[in-house]
Amino acid sequence: MSEVRFDGRIAIVTGAGGGLGRAHALLLASRGAKVVVNDLGGSRDGTGAGTNMADQVVQEIKGAGGEAVADYHGVDTAQGGEAIVKTALDAFGKVDIVINNAGILRDRAFHNLAEEDWDKVLAVHLKGAYNVTQPAFRVMRQNSYGRIVFTTSAAGLYGNFGQTNYSAAKMAVVGMMNTLKQEGAKYNIKANTIAPLAASRLTADIMPPPVLEKLKPELVSPMVAYLCSEECAESGSVFTAGGGYFGRAAIVEGQGVFLGNERPSSLEEIRDSLAKIKDMSGAQEFANANAEGMARVFSRLQGAPAASGTGQPS
Ligand code: NAI
Repeated sequence: MSEVRFDGRIAIVTGAGGGLGRAHALLLASRGAKVVVNDLGGSRDGTGAGTNMADQVVQEIKGAGGEAVADYHGVDTAQGGEAIVKTALDAFGKVDIVINNAGILRDRAFHNLAEEDWDKVLAVHLKGAYNVTQPAFRVMRQNSYGRIVFTTSAAGLYGNFGQTNYSAAKMAVVGMMNTLKQEGAKYNIKANTIAPLAASRLTADIMPPPVLEKLKPELVSPMVAYLCSEECAESGSVFTAGGGYFGRAAIVEGQGVFLGNERPSSLEEIRDSLAKIKDMSGAQEFANANAEGMARVFSRLQGAPAASGTGQPS
């Protein structure tokens, strides 16, 4: 069996000073990647900063014979993102891999959520992904090679009480990936998303210790690392991983129902058709927004049956 290697590849892992990011960084480095270990070194709610966390992981990597440099910039500003990419360029000359992993939590029931806590969580998770990925993407485009992994959450995909800010940010990165997979395709840049479940300081108080023991971050990293590999042909997918389980989550759309376009449907027709409108049997995934529009509307306008999700009206 041939080994999946990262020799000659340069990786940025944000928030790699602990938890999942640390595990991703250690795994990539153990397989030959040179790694920028980025971490602001603050607390779980994004306050404070320090160099310890990133330094420690760099020491671990070097101790195991790997190569890494520490970076202490916050992902939540454009200057921070630029600086993180510059760290990679200065130390290693290019960027091949970005894992957008840095994260914080500021949970609060929606009616009590302060604007500052909304803004900060979006700044780290969503704007942070933009801040780091854009300068890296420009380099990747020039080199016609790149692997990008975003980090979403079940809280974004499905919702979680008290996490409107976090859920919104986490689902937003899926949208970012959906378009980036298209913009990167011509340049061999693949973008995917991981929805992890792991014991870390973010989850330390929401699951009992016996469960947390079975959810080591190291159990998530193989999926993430594979998505960063040269041989990975996947792009635009959301993978779930935790405790040794791996799967895929996807946005699909049902077949729907055509109620005619000579006049607007009545509210009563909507009510009476709701079961059919909601029906998800025969649901399909779409490669892009045009493919979805073609399948859902265009073919019906022509009186043809629903097209498959290829973007080509049948
Ligand atoms: P963690 O708290 O151990 O790791 C997050 C890291 O990001 C920390 O080391 C922190 O210092 C760093 N960080 C925070 N703000 C930063 C900033 N502005 N710039 C640079 N670094 C910053 O937590 P964990 O669980 O390892 O989280 C990693 C990612 O996985 C996060 O995006 C989180 O939302 C996501 N996630 C984790 C889940 C879990 O079960 N642990 C579930 C779903 C998503």
